[in-house]
Amino acid sequence: MSETAKLILEGKEYEFPVIEGSEQEKAIDISKLRGQTGHITIDPGFKNTGSTTSAITYLDGEEGILRYRGYAIEDLAEKADFLAVAYLLIYGELPNQTEYDNFVSKITRHTMVNEDMRKIFDGFPVNAHPMGVMSSLVSAMSGFYPESYSKNDMDNIDVHIMRLMAKFPTLATWCYKKSQGHPINYPQNKLDYCSNFLHMMFALPVEEYEVNPVVSKALNSLLILHADHEQNCSTSTVRLVGSSQANLYSSISAGISALWGPLHGGANQAVIEMLEAIKEDGGGVQKYLDKAKDKNDPFRLMGFGHRVYKNFDPRARIIKKSADEVLEALGIDDPVLDIARGLEEAALNDEYFIQRKLYPNVDFYSGIIYRALGIPVNMFTVMFAIGRLPGWIAQWLELRESGQAIGRPRQIYTGETAREFVEMSKRK
Ligand code: CMC
Repeated sequence: MSETAKLILEGKEYEFPVIEGSEQEKAIDISKLRGQTGHITIDPGFKNTGSTTSAITYLDGEEGILRYRGYAIEDLAEKADFLAVAYLLIYGELPNQTEYDNFVSKITRHTMVNEDMRKIFDGFPVNAHPMGVMSSLVSAMSGFYPESYSKNDMDNIDVHIMRLMAKFPTLATWCYKKSQGHPINYPQNKLDYCSNFLHMMFALPVEEYEVNPVVSKALNSLLILHADHEQNCSTSTVRLVGSSQANLYSSISAGISALWGPLHGGANQAVIEMLEAIKEDGGGVQKYLDKAKDKNDPFRLMGFGHRVYKNFDPRARIIKKSADEVLEALGIDDPVLDIARGLEEAALNDEYFIQRKLYPNVDFYSGIIYRALGIPVNMFTVMFAIGRLPGWIAQWLELRESGQAIGRPRQIYTGETAREFVEMSKRK
């Protein structure tokens, strides 16, 4: 007989099924709890709540394991191509050559953006944060493909997926070009995904631009490392919005907004700003460790700690190694890298961080690489979003195909109980 969980409440005993995942993770299925007992569970921040079952990404925070569709992140980051990983996440298997060629060719043919989108883009002030701009532009894309609003358009969902995958990097480079006062570059379909992005970012009309293979390889691996991370804040947002049967563009736009926050993807920008501040302050790390430990100080060590990892974030391990390699290959000596190393070492030997199992996360070293690649700080979180896009799409698709009910958490009300309406003249 399958396992069950017993609950004794107000003297009565209830039984709930226990479900088990393919990696033996267990959950008590409380979907009938309220119907049977009149109670709900409460778990602010969802520290203990599974919102779904999913076959996309496996994460073991205690052991520091991350796998996409069963494949180790270490293998994928070293051996795979970002679009092959995107295919894996979205369709469930690594593509064979024909499937890969088809996928790449479809994405390549959608890289241009409707010129009318430029009018929307042009309305943004030059210093608008690119994450806000990206969220708006992706939402605006739904207006250009109105068939996407139809909840029955799932048969054509592939074309929307290709458009998003293809146009997202193009839109991202618009933000950068505008910030520099440079003309935008159109996509070059002869280039691969990463090289095309780098070309649109850095090519100028006045000179030839050669994509540096070290840069394009590093970018490929960074995008793979960010491609999915199961039910994190932005992915859960994409799923929640998608559960109302909102179209793919608006769901992804909401995910971009969620990613922007400094406790989530925005941490990569916050890390570099923190490291720069430490540098300006003479380079000593102890003061900042003390600030992070001081409960009266809102400062947190950015790029440290994770809701799920209570061990080294496996992505941080790969990125740290890659930061060393990329900086060496590009001949860059970034003093901030030494500060990051010193800060990491000091934190890992500090009782506060040891006790709370706080380790560097994906964002701790990624900004150092982005900067070495020439990407400005306010574009770091956009880089995260380009990487995360296939994960969001895969999770949205899984949700829609599962037919899962609309996401609608409950609450325990703690406000005023019923009271009489008070006329304005009688209010205090
Ligand atoms: N610096 C100082 N103390 C910390 C930090 C930190 N970076 N992270 C957690 N703590 C402390 C926290 O104060 C708490 O202490 P206590 O038990 O004494 O109250 C304890 O560790 C547990 O922290 P929590 O806030 O309850 O944990 P959480 O799971 O709610 O938060 C987190 C996870 C990632 C938001 C948090 O660790 C944090 O704010 N880190 C800095 C921001 C960051 O790097 N975010 C990127 C996350 S990884 C990529 C991504 O998701 O996009």
